[in-house]
Amino acid sequence: MSKSLKSHISIKHNNFFATKILTIFAAQKSEKMAGKITLTMIKPDAVKNGHIGNILADINNAGFKIKAMKLTQLSTADAESFYSVHRERPFFRDLVDFMTSGPIVAAVLEKDNAIEDFRKLIGATNPQEAAEGTIRNKYAVSIDANAIHGSDSDENAQIEAAFHFAGRDFYNY
Ligand code: CMP
Repeated sequence: MSKSLKSHISIKHNNFFATKILTIFAAQKSEKMAGKITLTMIKPDAVKNGHIGNILADINNAGFKIKAMKLTQLSTADAESFYSVHRERPFFRDLVDFMTSGPIVAAVLEKDNAIEDFRKLIGATNPQEAAEGTIRNKYAVSIDANAIHGSDSDENAQIEAAFHFAGRDFYNY
C-alpha cells in the first residue's frame, strides 16, 4: 500500500475502517486482484424505479464478476464519509440527501481493466451526455439521480470496497 494511502486512511477513518481496508488488501494481494476491481452502487433512483435486475444483467453481460454484493441504505454520516472528497462542492448536500433517500445495491466487481471498462459501461456522469446504450443513458433520471456509481481509480476502488465490505464478504467462484 502506498504511503499516501496509509496516511489518508489514518487521517480520515477510524481504526476499525483501517483494519477493514488492510484485510481487503491482504485478501486481494493473495488473490492477485489488484487493479482488477471496482466498487459500484446502484443508486436510490434506479432501485426505486425497478432497474436492479436489468443493471446487474448489463454488468454480467459486460464480463464483470460480482465478488461481493448487498442491498443497504446509507446513513447521513455514511454518505458524508463516502463522498468526503466532494465536501466543498456546491452539490454536496443534495448528493448526501439523495444518496440517503432510499436503499442502494453496493457491489464489488472484478474484471481486467475494471475501472476504465466499468466507467465506459456506465457512461458520463450527466445522463444527457451519456453515450447510447450505457447504463446511465438507459436508466438515469438526472445528474444527481444518475442510476449508478463507479470508482474513479484503483486506489479509490480499494477504499470504497472497504467502506462497504469486510474480507469475509468476498467470494471466489
Ligand atoms: P458519482 O460520480 O457517482 O459521485 C458523485 C456524484 O455527485 C455524481 O455521481 C453525481 O451524481 C453527483 N453530482 C451532482 N452534481 C454534479 C456535478 N456538477 N459534477 C459532478 N457530479 C455531480
